[in-house]
Amino acid sequence: GIPVGVLGTGSALPERVLTNADLEKMVDTSDEWIVARTGIRERRIADEKTASSDLSVEAARKAIADAGIDPEDIDLIICATVTPDYMFPATACLVQNRLGIKKTGAFDLSAGCSGFLYALATAVPMIQAGVAKNALVIGVDTLSKITDYTDRNTCVLFGDGAGAVVLGQVPEGRGFLGFDLGADGSGGEQLLLAAGGSRNPATQESVMNGQHTITMNGKEVFKFAVRVMNTATEEVLRKVGLTTEDVDFLVPHQANTRIIDYARERLGLPEDKVIVNLDRYGNMSSASIPVALDEAKRLGKFKESDLVMLVGFGAGLTWGAAAIRW
Ligand code: ACO
Repeated sequence: GIPVGVLGTGSALPERVLTNADLEKMVDTSDEWIVARTGIRERRIADEKTASSDLSVEAARKAIADAGIDPEDIDLIICATVTPDYMFPATACLVQNRLGIKKTGAFDLSAGCSGFLYALATAVPMIQAGVAKNALVIGVDTLSKITDYTDRNTCVLFGDGAGAVVLGQVPEGRGFLGFDLGADGSGGEQLLLAAGGSRNPATQESVMNGQHTITMNGKEVFKFAVRVMNTATEEVLRKVGLTTEDVDFLVPHQANTRIIDYARERLGLPEDKVIVNLDRYGNMSSASIPVALDEAKRLGKFKESDLVMLVGFGAGLTWGAAAIRW
């Protein structure tokens, strides 16, 4: 197919900062514990009026401006999220309306924190098949809306944000080289939002029982994460005939510095090749990778024809990785 790559990037973060010192006043935890066990120092939290579509629109506007195209040139919108504004309509449709774009396909995609990678792996072949010309792919989550701020096992980890990219045709030899996607549904209960869907519809009881906030088995998710971060990265490299020595930058899902460090060491990458921002934002689920990508791009880190690897894992359990010739 035609070469498809990133034409522009953008991100949006709520203004309100929640620090480890703030969390010390809310649950039995300490700055020392959070920094040592996760690497997180602060995160951004959306206010009551801000939902996922609001952050998405801001990130999308920046990505479209960065791509140097008109909103009208977008003809596909995919929004990767586990915290849509509503069960339906899709957040992608809300974004389409707010951007004033008329002729697009628009849908949401649910693959946990791997959602952004799943969305890229969906949009790129759609462009190559001629279904769309320019796709807006958004990774957004406002996990604060589904976090129990009395549960120290989860509330220290998560933050809110949105990242967006515009995809379209790029010169020969550049763009996306390959993907690896995977899932292990047997681990579904390790990271779960139990109620509000068709299994456990919302009732007064489900609210009383706290079933509308995230439950997580941190240890199991950790073990899964360190395994798939490496195997997914190596699998994409193998598919496209490259090795870890060819990698210029790795943009990993930002869940925990220990997970990132473990993957980096096993892949044999030096620290300066790995993009890390979770100290400032925590785990923003689907938004972590596109926000990190946008920040690194704006800092001028990526040079033409650098090999940029993206890799993530999340609820499902799922994983995904991508290789981009910048
Ligand atoms: N402050 C202080 N103590 C805490 C806290 C806290 N915030 N949280 C847990 N502890 C305690 C535990 O209760 C436990 O105490 P105990 O030994 O008396 O029972 C002790 O600290 C150690 O707990 P562990 O679970 O062993 O700590 P661990 O080193 O595994 O770190 C963590 C926990 C950070 C959650 C880690 O397991 C992790 O990062 N897992 C991956 C989670 C993840 O990435 N989830 C997101 C996936 S992406 C998505 O889809 C949203």
